[in-house]
Amino acid sequence: MSQDIEQIRQQALSELKQAEDAESIRDLSVRYLGRKGRVTRFLRNISELPEDRRPAAGKRANEVKKELESAFNDALARLSEKQEEKGAIDVSLPGRPAPVGTLHPVTRITRMIAKIFERMGFGIAEGPEVETDYYNFEALNIPKNHPARDMQDTFYVSENVVLRTHTSPIQVRYMETHQPPVRIIAPGKVYRCDSDLTHTPMFHQVEGLLVDEKVSFGDLKGTLTALVHQIFDPQTSLRFRPSFFPFTEPSAEVDIQCVICRGAGCKVCSDTGWLEVLGCGMVHPAVFENVGYDTDRYSGFAFGMGVERIAMLKYGINDIRMFFENDIRFLRQF
Ligand code: DAH
Repeated sequence: MSQDIEQIRQQALSELKQAEDAESIRDLSVRYLGRKGRVTRFLRNISELPEDRRPAAGKRANEVKKELESAFNDALARLSEKQEEKGAIDVSLPGRPAPVGTLHPVTRITRMIAKIFERMGFGIAEGPEVETDYYNFEALNIPKNHPARDMQDTFYVSENVVLRTHTSPIQVRYMETHQPPVRIIAPGKVYRCDSDLTHTPMFHQVEGLLVDEKVSFGDLKGTLTALVHQIFDPQTSLRFRPSFFPFTEPSAEVDIQCVICRGAGCKVCSDTGWLEVLGCGMVHPAVFENVGYDTDRYSGFAFGMGVERIAMLKYGINDIRMFFENDIRFLRQF
């Protein structure tokens, strides 16, 4: 019987040589490798052989099975290649749909914010992600001993070079090269040593800066209220809470009415009814001095917001890491 398998192999290969179209190759495959095929039957009947011959016969039969499988597949592949070369296309086959991509939620929110500010006359500025200590901290009035400079929060490239921890350095770079009036937003990636449900080592911010004569805190409130009303809904209340940033004075954090419970109190807003969405304030005179602006003549406001944070609130996402796992099932929903 062990000889049989060699015979089966020979026959299969010589029949394959004669086969001229896909159908006869498939037919061969069924006759040799199918459920009732000759190789399959041989394998099934191995138990009838004398015990000492079973291992070798089984091994050989499996080798033949593999060999024939790839011989049939190769023959089919060669055939379809030949047909393609001849330009034969089976028009009755269903088309292969090209998968359609969607924009990443972070891109969507960034574009939404950019559009809103574009309509209010803001331009877009950019800056480097690998930033010097001077632009990331010093020029923004962040002193040497400030906790944000801590090794725990900042990725240091070298003593004086960092991965920017916020988009605020773009303000300084822009003001150094442009005279007022200034009206820009600056979107981009920022980096911090931080990782949990609501923090990732890389995330996105949109910075904003407006400088002109007679700019007031009222202008800041009006601008940010317009923003929030367009991102969420026009009924959303805002709250400006006194805060501190070294580069603004006065400074505020902006809370919006909880988008989940509408202010009644829930898990998302820790029962406060409010959600913090951004930091802002009137540009500190020390920052203007660093870029050579006349502090008697000009005033301005600035703000910075986390894009993922806004996307999470807008789309009801509770784990920031979802944005960066590239799970198609998640990304397809946007
Ligand atoms: N840079 C701040 C941060 O990353 C956010 C911020 C607060 C930006 C106030 C501003 C501002 O421009 O005025 O936490």
